[in-house]
Amino acid sequence: MYDSKTRRATVRPAKSALGVIDVPSDKSIAHRSALFAAIAEGTSRIVDYPLSEDPLSTLKCLKALGVEIYEQDEILVIEGKGPYGLAESIGELPCRNSGTTMRLLSGILVGQSFPSRLSGDRSLSRRDMTRIADPLKKMGANIRLSDGHAPIRIAPVSGLKGITYTLPVASAQVKSCILLAGLYADGETTVIENTPTRDHTERMLGLGSVEFGDQKIITVRGGSTVRGRTWPVPKDFSGAACFLVAGSILPDSAIRLPRVGINPSRCGLIDVLRAMGARIELENERVTGSEAIADIVVYSSELSAIEIGGQMIAGIIDEIPVLAVAAACATGRTVIRDAAELRHKETDRIRATVTALRTLGAKVEEFEDGMAITGGPLSGGTVDSMGDHRIAMAMGVAGLVGSADTTILQADAVSVSFPSFWQALGNVAYGIGFERE
Ligand code: S3P
Repeated sequence: MYDSKTRRATVRPAKSALGVIDVPSDKSIAHRSALFAAIAEGTSRIVDYPLSEDPLSTLKCLKALGVEIYEQDEILVIEGKGPYGLAESIGELPCRNSGTTMRLLSGILVGQSFPSRLSGDRSLSRRDMTRIADPLKKMGANIRLSDGHAPIRIAPVSGLKGITYTLPVASAQVKSCILLAGLYADGETTVIENTPTRDHTERMLGLGSVEFGDQKIITVRGGSTVRGRTWPVPKDFSGAACFLVAGSILPDSAIRLPRVGINPSRCGLIDVLRAMGARIELENERVTGSEAIADIVVYSSELSAIEIGGQMIAGIIDEIPVLAVAAACATGRTVIRDAAELRHKETDRIRATVTALRTLGAKVEEFEDGMAITGGPLSGGTVDSMGDHRIAMAMGVAGLVGSADTTILQADAVSVSFPSFWQALGNVAYGIGFERE
Protein backbone atom coordinates (compact mmCIF):
# COMPACT_ATOMS: atom_id res chain seq x y z
CA MET A 1 0.00 0.00 0.00
CA TYR A 2 2.82 2.44 0.95
CA ASP A 3 5.87 2.91 -1.28
CA SER A 4 8.81 4.46 0.55
CA LYS A 5 10.61 5.39 -2.70
CA THR A 6 7.80 7.60 -3.97
CA ARG A 7 6.39 8.35 -0.50
CA ARG A 8 2.97 7.52 -1.92
CA ALA A 9 0.26 5.25 -0.57
CA THR A 10 -2.27 3.64 -2.87
CA VAL A 11 -5.47 2.51 -1.20
CA ARG A 12 -7.71 0.13 -3.12
CA PRO A 13 -11.48 -0.04 -2.64
CA ALA A 14 -12.40 -2.58 0.05
CA LYS A 15 -15.58 -4.47 0.70
CA SER A 16 -15.44 -4.32 4.48
CA ALA A 17 -13.15 -3.60 7.44
CA LEU A 18 -12.57 -6.26 10.07
CA GLY A 19 -10.06 -6.81 12.83
CA VAL A 20 -8.34 -5.65 15.98
CA ILE A 21 -6.05 -2.62 15.77
CA ASP A 22 -3.48 -1.64 18.31
CA VAL A 23 -3.21 2.10 17.62
CA PRO A 24 -0.12 4.02 18.85
CA SER A 25 -0.14 5.71 22.25
CA ASP A 26 -1.50 9.21 22.68
CA LYS A 27 1.00 11.89 21.72
CA SER A 28 -0.64 14.70 23.70
CA ILE A 29 -0.27 12.68 26.91
CA ALA A 30 3.18 11.41 25.93
CA HIS A 31 4.63 14.91 25.38
CA ARG A 32 3.27 16.01 28.73
CA SER A 33 4.53 12.95 30.61
CA ALA A 34 8.08 13.48 29.28
CA LEU A 35 8.10 17.24 29.92
CA PHE A 36 6.66 16.89 33.43
CA ALA A 37 9.06 14.02 34.20
CA ALA A 38 12.02 16.17 33.12
CA ILE A 39 11.25 18.92 35.66
CA ALA A 40 10.07 16.50 38.35
CA GLU A 41 11.86 15.64 41.58
CA GLY A 42 12.87 12.00 41.22
CA THR A 43 12.63 9.29 38.60
CA SER A 44 9.63 8.78 36.31
CA ARG A 45 8.70 5.72 34.28
CA ILE A 46 6.58 6.17 31.19
CA VAL A 47 4.75 3.08 30.02
CA ASP A 48 3.93 2.83 26.29
CA TYR A 49 5.73 6.00 25.18
CA PRO A 50 5.01 6.24 21.42
CA LEU A 51 7.91 6.16 18.97
CA SER A 52 6.26 8.44 16.43
CA GLU A 53 8.08 11.57 15.29
CA ASP A 54 6.35 14.21 17.42
CA PRO A 55 6.90 12.52 20.80
CA LEU A 56 10.48 11.72 19.71
CA SER A 57 11.01 15.45 19.08
CA THR A 58 10.13 16.15 22.70
CA LEU A 59 12.66 13.55 23.89
CA LYS A 60 15.33 14.96 21.59
CA CYS A 61 14.84 18.47 22.99
CA LEU A 62 14.88 17.21 26.58
CA LYS A 63 18.11 15.28 25.97
CA ALA A 64 19.64 18.47 24.53
CA LEU A 65 18.66 20.15 27.81
CA GLY A 66 20.70 17.59 29.74
CA VAL A 67 17.89 15.23 30.78
CA GLU A 68 18.88 11.59 31.18
CA ILE A 69 16.42 9.38 29.30
CA TYR A 70 16.79 5.64 28.73
CA GLU A 71 14.78 2.51 28.15
CA GLN A 72 14.50 -0.28 30.68
CA ASP A 73 12.36 -3.36 30.02
CA GLU A 74 10.47 -1.43 27.30
CA ILE A 75 9.64 1.35 29.74
CA LEU A 76 11.00 4.84 29.20
CA VAL A 77 12.84 6.08 32.27
CA ILE A 78 13.39 9.81 32.79
CA GLU A 79 15.61 11.05 35.60
CA GLY A 80 13.91 14.23 36.79
CA LYS A 81 16.13 17.30 37.03
CA GLY A 82 13.82 19.25 39.30
CA PRO A 83 12.36 22.61 38.20
CA TYR A 84 15.74 24.36 37.84
CA GLY A 85 18.04 21.47 36.90
CA LEU A 86 17.87 21.67 33.10
CA ALA A 87 21.11 22.68 31.33
CA GLU A 88 21.60 25.11 28.44
CA SER A 89 21.42 23.35 25.08
CA ILE A 90 24.50 23.70 22.89
CA GLY A 91 22.47 24.12 19.71
CA GLU A 92 18.89 25.03 18.97
CA LEU A 93 16.07 22.82 20.19
CA PRO A 94 14.62 21.04 17.13
CA CYS A 95 10.84 20.80 17.63
CA ARG A 96 10.48 19.74 13.95
CA ASN A 97 6.71 19.35 13.19
CA SER A 98 5.55 19.34 16.80
CA GLY A 99 3.56 22.38 17.95
CA THR A 100 2.95 20.77 21.34
CA THR A 101 6.71 20.39 21.93
CA MET A 102 7.41 23.99 20.97
CA ARG A 103 4.56 25.61 22.89
CA LEU A 104 4.75 23.57 26.10
CA LEU A 105 8.54 23.56 26.27
CA SER A 106 8.57 27.36 25.88
CA GLY A 107 6.47 27.58 29.06
CA ILE A 108 9.20 25.71 30.94
CA LEU A 109 12.15 27.49 29.33
CA VAL A 110 11.02 31.03 30.20
CA GLY A 111 11.56 30.06 33.86
CA GLN A 112 15.19 28.89 33.37
CA SER A 113 18.39 30.77 34.09
CA PHE A 114 19.88 30.15 30.60
CA PRO A 115 18.91 31.22 27.08
CA SER A 116 17.23 28.89 24.56
CA ARG A 117 16.35 28.87 20.90
CA LEU A 118 13.56 26.64 19.58
CA SER A 119 13.21 25.85 15.89
CA GLY A 120 10.61 24.07 13.77
CA ASP A 121 10.26 22.57 10.30
CA ARG A 122 8.65 24.54 7.46
CA SER A 123 5.11 23.82 8.65
CA LEU A 124 5.78 24.65 12.32
CA SER A 125 7.72 27.79 11.33
CA ARG A 126 4.56 29.09 9.65
CA ARG A 127 2.35 28.62 12.72
CA ASP A 128 1.42 31.51 15.00
CA MET A 129 3.55 31.76 18.13
CA THR A 130 2.25 35.15 19.31
CA ARG A 131 -0.51 33.18 21.01
CA ILE A 132 2.08 31.95 23.55
CA ALA A 133 4.50 34.91 23.41
CA ASP A 134 1.82 37.48 24.37
CA PRO A 135 0.80 35.89 27.69
CA LEU A 136 4.39 34.86 28.48
CA LYS A 137 5.49 38.50 28.01
CA LYS A 138 2.70 39.56 30.39
CA MET A 139 4.30 37.26 32.93
CA GLY A 140 7.61 39.10 32.43
CA ALA A 141 9.31 36.60 30.12
CA ASN A 142 11.93 37.66 27.62
CA ILE A 143 10.75 35.85 24.48
CA ARG A 144 11.38 36.95 20.89
CA LEU A 145 9.81 35.62 17.73
CA SER A 146 10.64 36.10 14.12
CA ASP A 147 7.67 37.95 12.65
CA GLY A 148 5.26 36.14 14.97
CA HIS A 149 6.76 32.72 14.28
CA ALA A 150 9.55 30.31 15.17
CA PRO A 151 12.46 30.34 15.69
CA ILE A 152 11.73 31.37 19.26
CA ARG A 153 14.49 32.97 21.32
CA ILE A 154 14.14 32.96 25.09
CA ALA A 155 16.49 34.85 27.44
CA PRO A 156 16.59 34.46 31.22
CA VAL A 157 14.84 37.03 33.45
CA SER A 158 15.14 37.61 37.19
CA GLY A 159 11.56 36.56 37.92
CA LEU A 160 8.14 35.85 36.41
CA LYS A 161 4.86 37.03 37.88
CA GLY A 162 1.58 35.15 37.98
CA ILE A 163 -1.22 36.44 35.74
CA THR A 164 -4.88 35.82 35.09
CA TYR A 165 -5.34 35.17 31.41
CA THR A 166 -8.48 34.51 29.39
CA LEU A 167 -7.60 32.42 26.35
CA PRO A 168 -8.50 34.33 23.17
CA VAL A 169 -8.42 31.04 21.19
CA ALA A 170 -9.49 27.61 22.36
CA SER A 171 -6.05 26.00 22.63
CA ALA A 172 -4.80 23.36 25.04
CA GLN A 173 -1.25 24.09 23.94
CA VAL A 174 -1.52 27.76 24.93
CA LYS A 175 -3.27 26.86 28.19
CA SER A 176 -0.57 24.32 29.06
CA CYS A 177 2.26 26.70 28.14
CA ILE A 178 0.94 29.36 30.54
CA LEU A 179 0.30 26.86 33.33
CA LEU A 180 3.86 25.49 33.01
CA ALA A 181 5.31 29.03 33.12
CA GLY A 182 3.06 29.54 36.18
CA LEU A 183 5.11 26.92 38.04
CA TYR A 184 8.03 29.37 37.80
CA ALA A 185 6.08 32.56 38.60
CA ASP A 186 5.45 34.45 41.84
CA GLY A 187 1.96 33.88 43.21
CA GLU A 188 -0.84 32.23 41.33
CA THR A 189 -1.39 31.95 37.58
CA THR A 190 -4.96 31.50 36.41
CA VAL A 191 -6.11 30.52 32.93
CA ILE A 192 -9.73 31.09 31.97
CA GLU A 193 -11.17 29.05 29.11
CA ASN A 194 -14.45 30.09 27.54
CA THR A 195 -14.36 26.91 25.50
CA PRO A 196 -12.92 23.96 27.43
CA THR A 197 -10.09 22.18 25.59
CA ARG A 198 -8.30 18.89 26.27
CA ASP A 199 -7.49 18.79 29.97
CA HIS A 200 -4.51 16.42 30.18
CA THR A 201 -2.21 19.05 31.74
CA GLU A 202 -4.50 19.87 34.64
CA ARG A 203 -5.32 16.20 35.23
CA MET A 204 -1.69 15.07 35.12
CA LEU A 205 -0.42 17.90 37.33
CA GLY A 206 -3.42 17.62 39.66
CA LEU A 207 -4.27 21.33 39.28
CA GLY A 208 -7.35 22.87 40.81
CA SER A 209 -10.10 24.02 38.44
CA VAL A 210 -13.61 25.36 38.73
CA GLU A 211 -16.31 25.25 36.07
CA PHE A 212 -19.10 27.80 35.57
CA GLY A 213 -21.29 26.63 32.73
CA ASP A 214 -19.01 26.48 29.69
CA GLN A 215 -16.27 28.49 31.41
CA LYS A 216 -13.37 26.73 33.11
CA ILE A 217 -10.85 28.38 35.45
CA ILE A 218 -7.58 26.59 36.16
CA THR A 219 -5.03 27.78 38.70
CA VAL A 220 -1.41 26.84 39.37
CA ARG A 221 0.66 28.05 42.31
CA GLY A 222 4.21 29.22 41.58
CA GLY A 223 6.87 27.02 43.15
CA SER A 224 4.68 23.89 43.13
CA THR A 225 6.80 20.83 42.49
CA VAL A 226 6.12 17.89 40.22
CA ARG A 227 7.00 14.48 41.66
CA GLY A 228 8.50 11.66 39.63
CA ARG A 229 6.07 8.78 39.10
CA THR A 230 4.81 6.20 36.66
CA TRP A 231 2.88 7.65 33.74
CA PRO A 232 0.90 5.15 31.66
CA VAL A 233 0.10 6.50 28.17
CA PRO A 234 -3.28 5.37 26.79
CA LYS A 235 -3.76 4.55 23.10
CA ASP A 236 -4.45 7.59 20.95
CA PHE A 237 -8.10 8.43 20.38
CA SER A 238 -7.14 10.54 17.34
CA GLY A 239 -5.47 7.51 15.72
CA ALA A 240 -8.45 5.34 16.64
CA ALA A 241 -10.79 7.91 15.07
CA CYS A 242 -9.74 6.86 11.55
CA PHE A 243 -10.88 3.32 12.25
CA LEU A 244 -14.13 4.45 13.90
CA VAL A 245 -14.95 6.10 10.60
CA ALA A 246 -13.67 3.20 8.44
CA GLY A 247 -15.71 0.68 10.46
CA SER A 248 -18.82 2.87 10.26
CA ILE A 249 -18.79 3.58 6.52
CA LEU A 250 -17.81 0.17 5.12
CA PRO A 251 -20.54 -2.49 5.03
CA ASP A 252 -20.29 -5.71 7.08
CA SER A 253 -17.51 -4.29 9.24
CA ALA A 254 -16.43 -4.65 12.85
CA ILE A 255 -13.23 -3.20 14.32
CA ARG A 256 -11.99 -3.46 17.90
CA LEU A 257 -9.57 -0.86 19.26
CA PRO A 258 -8.18 -1.88 22.66
CA ARG A 259 -7.10 0.46 25.50
CA VAL A 260 -7.96 3.76 23.82
CA GLY A 261 -8.11 7.01 25.84
CA ILE A 262 -11.70 8.20 26.20
CA ASN A 263 -11.09 11.45 28.07
CA PRO A 264 -14.35 13.39 27.48
CA SER A 265 -12.41 16.47 26.35
CA ARG A 266 -10.93 14.40 23.51
CA CYS A 267 -13.50 11.95 22.25
CA GLY A 268 -16.32 14.20 21.05
CA LEU A 269 -16.18 12.30 17.76
CA ILE A 270 -17.91 9.34 19.42
CA ASP A 271 -20.92 11.54 20.23
CA VAL A 272 -20.92 13.11 16.77
CA LEU A 273 -20.69 9.77 14.94
CA ARG A 274 -23.36 8.25 17.19
CA ALA A 275 -25.62 11.24 16.47
CA MET A 276 -25.06 10.46 12.76
CA GLY A 277 -26.24 6.89 13.41
CA ALA A 278 -22.93 5.11 14.05
CA ARG A 279 -22.79 1.99 16.19
CA ILE A 280 -19.89 2.43 18.58
CA GLU A 281 -19.59 0.52 21.85
CA LEU A 282 -17.26 1.05 24.79
CA GLU A 283 -16.17 -2.09 26.63
CA ASN A 284 -14.01 -2.62 29.72
CA GLU A 285 -14.05 1.03 30.73
CA ARG A 286 -11.36 1.69 33.33
CA VAL A 287 -8.88 4.32 34.51
CA THR A 288 -5.12 4.27 33.96
CA GLY A 289 -3.05 7.00 35.61
CA SER A 290 -5.23 10.09 35.42
CA GLU A 291 -7.06 9.08 32.23
CA ALA A 292 -10.11 6.95 31.37
CA ILE A 293 -9.65 4.24 28.75
CA ALA A 294 -11.85 1.61 27.08
CA ASP A 295 -11.84 -0.97 24.32
CA ILE A 296 -13.81 0.67 21.54
CA VAL A 297 -15.76 -1.47 19.09
CA VAL A 298 -17.34 -0.06 15.94
CA TYR A 299 -19.77 -1.77 13.57
CA SER A 300 -21.05 -0.68 10.15
CA SER A 301 -24.00 1.63 10.04
CA GLU A 302 -25.95 3.92 7.75
CA LEU A 303 -24.84 7.46 8.57
CA SER A 304 -26.98 10.58 8.21
CA ALA A 305 -25.82 14.19 7.97
CA ILE A 306 -25.39 16.41 11.03
CA GLU A 307 -24.86 20.12 11.77
CA ILE A 308 -22.12 20.89 14.28
CA GLY A 309 -20.39 23.98 15.64
CA GLY A 310 -19.86 26.00 18.82
CA GLN A 311 -18.40 24.44 21.95
CA MET A 312 -18.27 20.92 20.54
CA ILE A 313 -15.58 21.80 17.98
CA ALA A 314 -12.70 21.87 20.53
CA GLY A 315 -13.43 18.24 21.47
CA ILE A 316 -13.15 17.03 17.86
CA ILE A 317 -10.57 19.48 16.51
CA ASP A 318 -8.04 16.88 15.34
CA GLU A 319 -10.75 14.54 14.04
CA ILE A 320 -12.53 16.94 11.66
CA PRO A 321 -10.68 15.81 8.49
CA VAL A 322 -11.76 12.20 9.05
CA LEU A 323 -15.23 13.32 10.17
CA ALA A 324 -15.51 15.03 6.77
CA VAL A 325 -14.87 11.64 5.17
CA ALA A 326 -17.70 10.14 7.24
CA ALA A 327 -19.92 13.04 6.12
CA ALA A 328 -19.04 12.34 2.48
CA CYS A 329 -20.49 8.84 3.00
CA ALA A 330 -23.59 9.98 4.92
CA THR A 331 -27.03 10.74 3.57
CA GLY A 332 -27.63 14.48 3.35
CA ARG A 333 -25.62 17.68 3.87
CA THR A 334 -23.33 17.89 6.90
CA VAL A 335 -22.38 21.37 8.05
CA ILE A 336 -19.28 22.05 10.19
CA ARG A 337 -18.97 25.62 11.54
CA ASP A 338 -16.89 27.54 14.13
CA ALA A 339 -13.79 25.55 13.19
CA ALA A 340 -11.55 28.37 11.88
CA GLU A 341 -8.79 27.07 14.22
CA LEU A 342 -8.31 24.29 11.67
CA ARG A 343 -6.66 26.81 9.38
CA HIS A 344 -3.83 27.14 11.95
CA LYS A 345 -2.80 23.48 12.21
CA GLU A 346 0.07 21.64 10.45
CA THR A 347 -1.66 22.77 7.23
CA ASP A 348 -4.77 24.82 6.61
CA ARG A 349 -6.91 21.76 7.30
CA ILE A 350 -10.12 23.30 5.95
CA ARG A 351 -8.49 23.97 2.58
CA ALA A 352 -6.59 20.66 2.53
CA THR A 353 -9.69 18.58 3.39
CA VAL A 354 -11.95 20.41 0.95
CA THR A 355 -9.41 20.15 -1.88
CA ALA A 356 -8.72 16.45 -1.33
CA LEU A 357 -12.39 15.45 -0.94
CA ARG A 358 -13.35 17.37 -4.08
CA THR A 359 -10.64 15.51 -5.98
CA LEU A 360 -12.23 12.27 -4.80
CA GLY A 361 -15.58 13.36 -6.22
CA ALA A 362 -17.28 14.64 -3.05
CA LYS A 363 -19.54 17.66 -3.10
CA VAL A 364 -17.96 20.08 -0.62
CA GLU A 365 -18.50 23.79 0.07
CA GLU A 366 -15.74 25.73 1.82
CA PHE A 367 -16.48 28.35 4.51
CA GLU A 368 -14.02 30.57 6.33
CA ASP A 369 -14.80 28.63 9.53
CA GLY A 370 -15.68 25.20 8.20
CA MET A 371 -17.28 23.30 5.36
CA ALA A 372 -20.46 21.59 4.17
CA ILE A 373 -20.28 18.12 2.70
CA THR A 374 -23.11 16.45 0.80
CA GLY A 375 -22.89 12.66 0.91
CA GLY A 376 -22.49 10.68 -2.29
CA PRO A 377 -20.20 8.15 -3.97
CA LEU A 378 -16.41 8.75 -3.93
CA SER A 379 -14.47 8.14 -7.10
CA GLY A 380 -10.85 7.60 -6.09
CA GLY A 381 -8.06 9.74 -7.53
CA THR A 382 -4.76 11.32 -6.47
CA VAL A 383 -4.70 13.63 -3.46
CA ASP A 384 -1.92 15.45 -1.62
CA SER A 385 -1.63 15.21 2.16
CA MET A 386 0.28 18.53 2.00
CA GLY A 387 2.64 16.85 4.48
CA ASP A 388 -0.08 16.73 7.16
CA HIS A 389 -0.52 13.41 8.97
CA ARG A 390 -4.23 13.91 9.68
CA ILE A 391 -5.03 14.67 6.03
CA ALA A 392 -3.02 11.63 4.86
CA MET A 393 -4.86 9.30 7.24
CA ALA A 394 -8.32 10.74 6.52
CA MET A 395 -7.80 10.32 2.78
CA GLY A 396 -6.53 6.80 3.34
CA VAL A 397 -9.88 5.98 4.95
CA ALA A 398 -11.72 7.68 2.05
CA GLY A 399 -9.74 5.45 -0.34
CA LEU A 400 -11.39 2.32 1.11
CA VAL A 401 -14.83 3.46 -0.06
CA GLY A 402 -13.82 4.81 -3.49
CA SER A 403 -14.96 3.25 -6.75
CA ALA A 404 -11.32 3.22 -7.95
CA ASP A 405 -7.87 3.42 -6.37
CA THR A 406 -6.88 6.47 -4.30
CA THR A 407 -3.25 7.58 -4.25
CA ILE A 408 -2.08 9.77 -1.38
CA LEU A 409 1.00 11.91 -2.02
CA GLN A 410 3.40 12.68 0.87
CA ALA A 411 1.89 9.67 2.61
CA ASP A 412 4.96 9.40 4.86
CA ALA A 413 3.46 12.27 6.89
CA VAL A 414 1.68 9.62 9.01
CA SER A 415 4.96 8.98 10.83
CA VAL A 416 4.32 12.11 12.91
CA SER A 417 1.66 10.29 14.95
CA PHE A 418 0.98 6.81 13.46
CA PRO A 419 4.01 5.35 11.65
CA SER A 420 2.31 1.97 11.02
CA PHE A 421 -0.92 3.52 9.69
CA TRP A 422 -0.72 2.16 6.13
CA GLN A 423 -0.01 -1.32 7.41
CA ALA A 424 -2.89 -1.08 9.93
CA LEU A 425 -5.28 0.12 7.23
CA GLY A 426 -4.18 -2.74 4.95
CA ASN A 427 -4.69 -5.24 7.79
CA VAL A 428 -8.35 -4.33 8.35
CA ALA A 429 -9.31 -3.92 4.69
CA TYR A 430 -11.10 -7.01 3.37
CA GLY A 431 -12.15 -7.76 -0.20
CA ILE A 432 -9.51 -5.39 -1.58
CA GLY A 433 -10.01 -4.48 -5.22
CA PHE A 434 -13.74 -4.94 -4.77
CA GLU A 435 -15.69 -3.30 -7.60
CA ARG A 436 -17.95 -0.66 -6.19
CA GLU A 437 -20.64 0.71 -8.48
C1 S3P B 1 -2.76 19.56 21.43
C2 S3P B 1 -3.70 20.54 21.33
C3 S3P B 1 -4.38 20.87 20.07
C4 S3P B 1 -4.27 19.73 19.07
C5 S3P B 1 -2.88 19.22 18.94
C6 S3P B 1 -2.37 18.71 20.28
C7 S3P B 1 -2.13 19.33 22.73
O1 S3P B 1 -3.78 22.01 19.50
O2 S3P B 1 -4.76 20.15 17.81
O3 S3P B 1 -2.83 18.16 18.01
O4 S3P B 1 -1.48 18.29 22.93
O5 S3P B 1 -2.27 20.20 23.62
P1 S3P B 1 -4.20 23.50 19.93
O6 S3P B 1 -3.88 23.68 21.35
O7 S3P B 1 -3.36 24.39 19.05
O8 S3P B 1 -5.66 23.58 19.64
